[in-house]
Amino acid sequence: MRILGTGSALPARRVTNEELTAFLDTSDEWIRTRTGIAERRVLNEESVLSLAREASLRALENAGLNADDIDMIIVSTAKGETVTPATANLLQGEIGAHCPAFDLNAACSGFLYALDLAQPYIDSGKAQRILITCAEAISRLCDWTDRSTCVLFGDGAGAAIVGAGEGLLATRLTSVPNLGALNAYHDPGNNPFQEHKHPASYLHMAGQEVFKFAVSTSSADLRAVAEAAGVGLAEIDFFVLHQANMRILEAVRTRLGQPKEKFPSNIARTGNTSSASVPILLDELNRSGALTPGMLIAMSAFGAGLTSGAALLRWA
Ligand code: ACO
Repeated sequence: MRILGTGSALPARRVTNEELTAFLDTSDEWIRTRTGIAERRVLNEESVLSLAREASLRALENAGLNADDIDMIIVSTAKGETVTPATANLLQGEIGAHCPAFDLNAACSGFLYALDLAQPYIDSGKAQRILITCAEAISRLCDWTDRSTCVLFGDGAGAAIVGAGEGLLATRLTSVPNLGALNAYHDPGNNPFQEHKHPASYLHMAGQEVFKFAVSTSSADLRAVAEAAGVGLAEIDFFVLHQANMRILEAVRTRLGQPKEKFPSNIARTGNTSSASVPILLDELNRSGALTPGMLIAMSAFGAGLTSGAALLRWA
């Protein structure tokens, strides 16, 4: 399996750290030094669906394909446009595709989970081309009075179309149940027969616990995919990591003993866009011309679950 095209979309509204200080007890200096984030994009006119549509159409154009060429749509999202139908079904209507479509929720690891899921379909020939679109609006999940979470996130969508080819060399997924580290509850509904309902809640995160998990798991996952593919870490050209926190990226980089230039980052402009972050960064690299055929690219993401995923691919 290989990547045939990429696309991404960000909301127009830029929100700087300085703007957050108008209603939160925080500072540009705290956010920059603890996270590397200077600004993020937040939904205003857009919706999760409109971002998904824009990113998907760009990926189709980049791959030189039409919507009818797509055999399956997987949307990764923590909070889609609707509870049901799936955002993937709505996206299908928006782009005019005629194929199975469903949503996947593996939190920030969604892109890697989707890649892994797509591989047997492509390898077996059951599907020729699969559209993976990660569309996230964590701004809808955050409590905007909680300075420990809302400053970290941004909205956006990233997409990739995969098809047959010699590209994906290894993948690895992990999951360990940990409700306390990172969670948000749905609206429980008004079932009169259920006495004890957990109320709907905003995103809650035990920051330091997630930080430690992210660094140790991402480092282990990246080593594992490199080993599985028989590739030395030094041979890898780019490490495209989930843009959760600049300090996490730095800690992983140091553990792997790799130079800074191999760890591209857009977190200063985007904040943490959950599962969209890896495909957005991949699309930016692709469009900037930084990726040339034959390059080895390692990807790694981690998030609520706690889940993690990594992949090693040769750019084709
Ligand atoms: N502005 C100013 N002060 C703040 C802010 C803020 N925005 N947020 C927290 N603080 C304060 C805290 O209240 C605390 O104050 P106290 O010492 O008086 O109690 C102090 O800063 C230190 O707080 P810590 O939580 O210890 O700060 P830390 O250095 O751990 O940084 C952070 C917090 C940035 C959340 C960090 O733990 C982190 O990045 N964790 C990983 C989060 C992550 O990667 N999540 C993404 C993966 S999952 C996903 O993407 C959905």
